[in-house]
Amino acid sequence: MLSRTFRVSVGLVTALAVAVLCNIYLVFLLWTGGQSGYSHYELITRPVISQKEEVPINSTNSGLNLSYLKAMFNSSTKHIHNLGSRSLTSVMNKLQRELKSRGEKAADIISRSARWVSPSSLLPSFTPQLGDMIKYLQTAPIIRASIPHVGTQLKVMLTLKGGQKALLKPQWYDREYRIDGPDVYSGADRHNGEIVGFYLSLLLDLRRTPVAVGRMINLTSDILANADSDLAATFFRNNQSHACFYGVCRYCKPELSVCAGGGDLIEAAIILWLPNSVKLKSNRSPWQRTYKKNVRAQWETDDKFCTNLQKQNRIFGIDPTKRRLLDLIDAAVFDFLISNGDRHHYEIIDGSSEAAVLLLDNGKSFGRPDLDYIDILAPLYQCMLLDCCVIRKSTYNRLEMLESGPLGALIEKLTLKDSLIGPLLTNEHVQAINRRLGKIIQTIELCAKMKSWDDILVPY
Ligand SMILES: *[C@@H]1O[C@H](CO)[C@@H](O)[C@H](O)[C@H]1NC(C)=O
Ligand SMILES: *[C@@H]1O[C@H](CO)[C@@H](O)[C@H](O)[C@H]1NC(C)=O
Ligand SMILES: *[C@@H]1O[C@H](CO)[C@@H](O)[C@H](O)[C@H]1NC(C)=O
Ligand SMILES: *[C@@H]1O[C@H](CO)[C@@H](O)[C@H](O)[C@H]1NC(C)=O
Ligand SMILES: *[C@@H]1O[C@H](CO)[C@@H](O)[C@H](O)[C@H]1NC(C)=O
Repeated sequence: MLSRTFRVSVGLVTALAVAVLCNIYLVFLLWTGGQSGYSHYELITRPVISQKEEVPINSTNSGLNLSYLKAMFNSSTKHIHNLGSRSLTSVMNKLQRELKSRGEKAADIISRSARWVSPSSLLPSFTPQLGDMIKYLQTAPIIRASIPHVGTQLKVMLTLKGGQKALLKPQWYDREYRIDGPDVYSGADRHNGEIVGFYLSLLLDLRRTPVAVGRMINLTSDILANADSDLAATFFRNNQSHACFYGVCRYCKPELSVCAGGGDLIEAAIILWLPNSVKLKSNRSPWQRTYKKNVRAQWETDDKFCTNLQKQNRIFGIDPTKRRLLDLIDAAVFDFLISNGDRHHYEIIDGSSEAAVLLLDNGKSFGRPDLDYIDILAPLYQCMLLDCCVIRKSTYNRLEMLESGPLGALIEKLTLKDSLIGPLLTNEHVQAINRRLGKIIQTIELCAKMKSWDDILVPY
């Protein structure tokens, strides 16, 4: 009879001890911000506004414009210390948890991923199956290769074992290659930019980019051996006996072939294809370029463009909260970091008033590490006196947090395990990301100086 009371007491004491230990552990986690790692100093160079360039604030100013920003970014620079923050540590820990492979079966990964997409994002805010999907895209046998009939550039539609579809974009350039213009949108796709864009979207928490991974592909055994006849017909061997192909698309022709190296191996970006049930709608970007020499778009010459745009209700017609504009500003921030000046159209998921601007097709990025195309930021800096020069508070907070990484190092860390041989970006491009982030934050600070933080940071 003693034993019953005894067991109850032991049970109570044990429960109490466990509770206390859990609490201690929780406090420890909060204190250390999860695992240790990022609480170190980093030195970042960022342009500062010099005193003499103090911006006069009055109603005749049209707001920030390209020439003003260019002059400002050309002025003196100063080193500032950024303390690695505890919240950055927990953001990185969360991402590492998502990127970790858990060894699920292909069929389970595919069926779960079919439910990832919502009108406002392509990936849920926590996606524990992400690591398995990445591994699947990098390793699953290719069972069919066909012509995708999307876009104007060389791509291949893959069907992977298990039935999942994915888009392949092959490597055109070495990492060090510079796209020497003449335009921001010159050159063929950069497969590595597509992959980096995906990891950057995770860091920015703009989960509107499809999963994109690197993979070494054997053009002969992976693609040609599984190719539909119309695609297979574009394969040949060059004078070094390497496998080459040029595919079927608007700009596809034999003179523009990609060729594998030794052993018929070629690097490629493999991009997860969205479920067939997802219908996309393509809209012309208000900040579209003319793609013609000597012809400038309205936004390039009219500093009140954004204001007028709002008056015309062209982008806010269905959206009194301006979510569409805020999405386009997020997109501008993303594009400026990767240096993508080619977002002439943007896609949304059709049929929902919640539909967010997706960040698809990020291959025209990382062409020049030495140049920053400030005008990509036009949606952010135009018309500050009226309603523009706004940004989501969440985006701004995230940018500030990432600056202390610094961002380039965080991207390197996340992409380290991607299966392509060697890093995805040269050091120069990594530095360019840090420099561009500094300019974005600088622009926002300038807006805040002209208006107020409350005016420009939008809480949704
Ligand atoms: C407003 O600023 C402009 C320069 O941007 C200046 O020429 C003008 O005199 C200012 N107006 C007032 C009322 O301060
Ligand atoms: C550019 O913006 C600055 C600051 O608002 C203003 O002083 C300048 O006149 C503007 N330049 C042009 C060409 O509009
Ligand atoms: C930037 O500054 C340098 C000198 O510091 C000057 O030679 C150059 O013209 C400036 N560029 C612009 C775009 O203002
Ligand atoms: C192989 O082809 C390339 C380009 O088509 C040409 O530049 C090169 O001289 C050729 N090499 C030989 C050995 O024929
Ligand atoms: C690529 O596939 C071809 C054809 O099966 C084969 O001859 C070649 O050795 C493969 N390359 C590598 C690196 O395995």
